[in-house]
Amino acid sequence: MGEVVCVTGAGGFVASWLIKLLLSKGYTVRGTVRQPGDEKNAHLYKLDKASENLTLYKADLLDYDSIHEAISGCNGVFHVASPLPTGPVQNPEARLLTFSVELIEPAVKGTLNVLKASLEAKVRRAIVVSSGAAVTMNPRWPKDRVKDENCWSDKEFQKKMKNWYGLSKTEAESEAMEFGKSTGLDVVRVCPTLVLGPMLQTTANSSSMFLVRQLKEGYESRENKLQKLVDVRDVAEALLLAYEKPEAEGRYICVGHMIMYKDLLDKLKSLYPHYNYPKSYTDGGEEPKMSAEKLQKLGWNCRPLEDTLIDSIEHYKAAGLLE
Ligand SMILES: NC(=O)c1ccc[n+]([C@@H]2O[C@H](COP(=O)([O-])OP(=O)(O)OC[C@H]3O[C@@H](n4cnc5c(N)ncnc54)[C@H](OP(=O)(O)O)[C@@H]3O)[C@@H](O)[C@H]2O)c1
Repeated sequence: MGEVVCVTGAGGFVASWLIKLLLSKGYTVRGTVRQPGDEKNAHLYKLDKASENLTLYKADLLDYDSIHEAISGCNGVFHVASPLPTGPVQNPEARLLTFSVELIEPAVKGTLNVLKASLEAKVRRAIVVSSGAAVTMNPRWPKDRVKDENCWSDKEFQKKMKNWYGLSKTEAESEAMEFGKSTGLDVVRVCPTLVLGPMLQTTANSSSMFLVRQLKEGYESRENKLQKLVDVRDVAEALLLAYEKPEAEGRYICVGHMIMYKDLLDKLKSLYPHYNYPKSYTDGGEEPKMSAEKLQKLGWNCRPLEDTLIDSIEHYKAAGLLE
């Protein structure tokens, strides 16, 4: 039997690719899902080696006992699960309380539950999936300085901007860092930017829907801002490196490509001319780039942007998402 690792939120976009990679490397995987029998998790059972080496556990991030049961006896943990907003926010003011319950509490308490169970299980290392949203939203960062792992999103600024998802990730990651410091648990955090690429799961996740919408909606006008993207398969590789490399520590920005929104859409249009692209663009201002240098030093590299875009669009076409 290979090393035993737990992956939370197993049925999701990133976790499914991570589990596929872990199984291919000989790991025995325990995946947590909220509804093991649900059709949306069926793809997991079809992964290579899943019948021998994958077990699904029913667990909710806010139910400590269920998390503890899945993690107890594991050598390592990948905490991937986190609530994501499902669509554009219509009335954030009125939904403030709901957001705090829906997003912030599961993200923060859930992370602490996973880390507490990891400490009790004496795991070798816990990997926490944070986000570029916990890095970039910092208005005080100098405009001429590339954003590296020292850059943290400003929580007060996120509250002001009503970016509840970003706030949930910033809070969860800073709590994870403090938990590691105060208990000695080896916690490594990985911060992916917008994740694209083909899906293994059948229910489209929010970042995939972002790209689908750019091709379908025919927006009148869009802000031309810097887009920071990474392929889901490269995120899975980054998480595995962060787990396996003994020297990995602290935080890793996981960004594959940075491109202005209009240039991205022009690139897509040159590859797939017949979709309903935005009609015009407004100046979205300049923003410092981010650096994946620390992750690259661990041995990470990413595939070309064209591969990600083509594989994504071909997948959406086959799944009927672009009709
Ligand atoms: N996709 C991106 O662009 C992106 C970028 C940066 C960071 N991330 C981070 O990457 C991770 C995975 O995101 P994803 O894109 O793969 O999203 P996803 O497909 O929506 O997966 C999220 C997973 O979290 C689980 N989850 C949510 N609330 C939970 C709870 N209370 N208890 C247990 N499980 C819960 C969901 O389970 P159910 O299926 O039961 O709902 C789902 O499996 C998240 O931490 C996200 O913040 C994603």
